[in-house]
Amino acid sequence: MNSVTLLQPQKIIFGEGVIEQLAGDSLIQRAQTVLFLVAPPLVPILEGIIQSSKFSNKQVKLVAYRFLGEPTFSQFNLLLDEHKALKPDCVVGVGGGSVLDCAKLLAALINHSQKLEDIVGMGLLHDRKTHLICVPTTSGTGSEVSPNAILLDEETQAKRGIISPFLVPDACYLDPVLTVTLPPKLTAETGIDALSHCIEAYTNKFAHPTVDIYALKGISLIAEYIQEAFENGSNMNARSAMLLGSMYGGLCLGPVNTAAVHALSYGLGGKFHIPHGLSNAILMPKVLKFNMSASLKRHADVARALGITISGTDKEVALAGINKIERLSKACQIPQRLTEIGVTEDDIPELATIAMNVTRLLKNNPREVSREDTINIYKNIL
Ligand SMILES: [Fe+2]
Repeated sequence: MNSVTLLQPQKIIFGEGVIEQLAGDSLIQRAQTVLFLVAPPLVPILEGIIQSSKFSNKQVKLVAYRFLGEPTFSQFNLLLDEHKALKPDCVVGVGGGSVLDCAKLLAALINHSQKLEDIVGMGLLHDRKTHLICVPTTSGTGSEVSPNAILLDEETQAKRGIISPFLVPDACYLDPVLTVTLPPKLTAETGIDALSHCIEAYTNKFAHPTVDIYALKGISLIAEYIQEAFENGSNMNARSAMLLGSMYGGLCLGPVNTAAVHALSYGLGGKFHIPHGLSNAILMPKVLKFNMSASLKRHADVARALGITISGTDKEVALAGINKIERLSKACQIPQRLTEIGVTEDDIPELATIAMNVTRLLKNNPREVSREDTINIYKNIL
């Protein structure tokens, strides 16, 4: 069995209303200066929390996150420059994946001599001196438990990963109540992203039993509840299941990570600014069909976790699982073809070039992917 390293937040607090416990968090209580980076819709809730007497002897700065789309290198550096003088001893991120990724990088660099450009890639951040708490408000990236942050390099239009054990938050608060107002479209797209984290971890070349358990649970929770969360966003059971499923997906990202779905998604996100979950949703069925011959049993296991109960060969069961992903995606009104989101055949060579450069994820794919394979997959979903 291959070796594995599991790095997780020291404290994961899950439950309806747990945001109320944030003010009393021991990391916040021990801090003298706290910087909150907050998605705009959540600002009123956080302003209420900051009024608590627990903050009366502290310097507190609440920053409303103001960038749209994938945060860029220069946007992050602006954020860092604006708040570096504050020297917080605790950073709290409250929001979706982009907000949490920026909060993680702020905590890493705000009291540090390393610059953003020094830490892009795997394992280049030397340490983190500032405590970090993450509170997700979407059920998708799993950033609140993962060692990953993703920024857009505006010069090359390429998404770049910053991956470090020091980007794993110290604590996270998973409160499904905060996800209730997430619009149906975002609920569906981010939910499929979380599903793809679990599936790409379970079918990964470096899959591991310690992570399989998270991946399978995440797949079953998301498959059971994504359509309900899309159609009835106030269903707290569905919101809770999706937030847990997303957390399980995030727990897969550090030790195993994703593979070709995410690699092929990079160009669609970076070059065409297509939301990450949407591009993954379009790609996933075709990539899984391409991959399944490399590990039929694992793809059949995924299908069973998705709720497929037919008996048959592993191949038949695996295909039924892929069909179920397509059904769920359609039921959530997610586009199924690249042409529906403005991509044409002429764009494919460049998309393939970008995808083939994401070697840190392609190496994880259960089946070797050539440039020609990549082009064929894109063509199949035009
Ligand atoms: Fe993702």
